[in-house]
Amino acid sequence: MSHTVIMTGATRGLGRVAAERILAGSPQTHLVLLARGGAGAGLAEELSRDGHAVTSIPADLLSLGSVRGAADEVAHRIDGGTLPPLRGLVGNAGLLYTDDVTQSPDGFEATFAVNVLANHALVRRLQDRFEAPSRIVITVSDAHFGDFRHNKGMMPGPSWQDPARMARTSAFPRPESTTAGGIAYATSKLAAVHLVHEYARRLPPGIDVIAYNPGFVPGTGLSREAGAAVRFVMRAVMPLATLTPIASTQQEAGQQLADVVLGRTAAGSGSYVDRTSEARSSAESYDAERERRLWEVAEELTGPFTR
Ligand SMILES: NC(=O)c1ccc[n+]([C@@H]2O[C@H](COP(=O)([O-])OP(=O)(O)OC[C@H]3O[C@@H](n4cnc5c(N)ncnc54)[C@H](OP(=O)(O)O)[C@@H]3O)[C@@H](O)[C@H]2O)c1
Repeated sequence: MSHTVIMTGATRGLGRVAAERILAGSPQTHLVLLARGGAGAGLAEELSRDGHAVTSIPADLLSLGSVRGAADEVAHRIDGGTLPPLRGLVGNAGLLYTDDVTQSPDGFEATFAVNVLANHALVRRLQDRFEAPSRIVITVSDAHFGDFRHNKGMMPGPSWQDPARMARTSAFPRPESTTAGGIAYATSKLAAVHLVHEYARRLPPGIDVIAYNPGFVPGTGLSREAGAAVRFVMRAVMPLATLTPIASTQQEAGQQLADVVLGRTAAGSGSYVDRTSEARSSAESYDAERERRLWEVAEELTGPFTR
C-alpha cells in the first residue's frame, strides 16, 4: 500500500542522498519534495526515472506564506486522493548565515525562519492529515550542545533567549559577525530539539517525531554563505576528516537519515538520534516550561491553525 512522505532539503547535500535511499528502501513511498526554484521539479524528474513516484511542490521555506501554500496543496491532494495517505515528513532543510541580521520576507531572522518556523508550520498545518503509524524526522545538529566534544571548536554554542526575541534579527551580541550567525544556527537547532519534545507530547499516538543529528558532514552546501577561505577549507580540506570518526560522508549521513525515516533505526517519539542510535541531547537538561513557551511563540508566529 503506497503512502506519502514529504521532504524538505532534498535538493543537495545529505538530503539529496537520503531522498534516493528512502525511495530505494521503500518503493511504495510517494515522495513529495518541497523545494525552492526549479530544483525540486528537476530532482523529481530525475528520481522518477527508476519508476519511483516523486512529486515536487514549490516552497521557499523562508516565507511562511509559501510554506502554508505548499502544506495546503499537499493536504488538498491527499483529500482528493491524488496523493496516498500521509505517513512521514522529513524536515531536513536548514541553513547557516554568516550573521544574525538577515531577515526573512516576514521579518524574522532567516536562520530561525527556516530551521524552526518552517518545520513548525508544516507539522501543524498537516497535523491531522498524518495517519498512524507515521514518522516525522527533523534534522538537527551537534552544534546545539555548544561544547568542544560535540563541535570541535568549529561553531559557537547556543545562547537561549526568549523565543520571541530569538525569532528576530540582532538577538545576539555583534549581530553582523560570523560568530553571531553561528550562535543563531546553534540556538535554532536547540529550539528544533525542544520542539520535537513538545510535538511528541502533543501529537496523537502513532505519529512519532524524532530529532536526527548527522554529526559533522563536510562538503555539503551548508557553508556556502561563508567567506571564500572557509568555503575552500570546507570543500577541499575538511572532506579528509571523513577518513576519521569525527566526520561522516554525505553518503553515510544520507543513509542514516533514510534509516530513521524508514523506521530501521529504533527510536521513540521525542527522541534524539545521534547518527545511528538514540542518544541524549542537551535539551533534556532544561525544564518543560522552556518548551511550552517556545511552542506558544511558534504558534503565535506561524498560526493560526484552524484544521
Ligand atoms: N553538513 C553538516 O556538517 C551538518 C551538521 C549538522 C546538521 N546539518 C543539518 O543537515 C541538514 C542538511 O544540510 P546539508 O549540510 O546537507 O546542507 P545543504 O547542502 O546546504 O542542504 C540544505 C538543504 O536545505 C534547503 N534549503 C535551505 N534553505 C531553503 C529555503 N529557503 N527553501 C527551501 N529549501 C531550502 C536547500 O535547498 P537549496 O538547494 O534550494 O539551497 C538544501 O536542499 C540541515 O538541516 C543542516 O543544518 C548539517
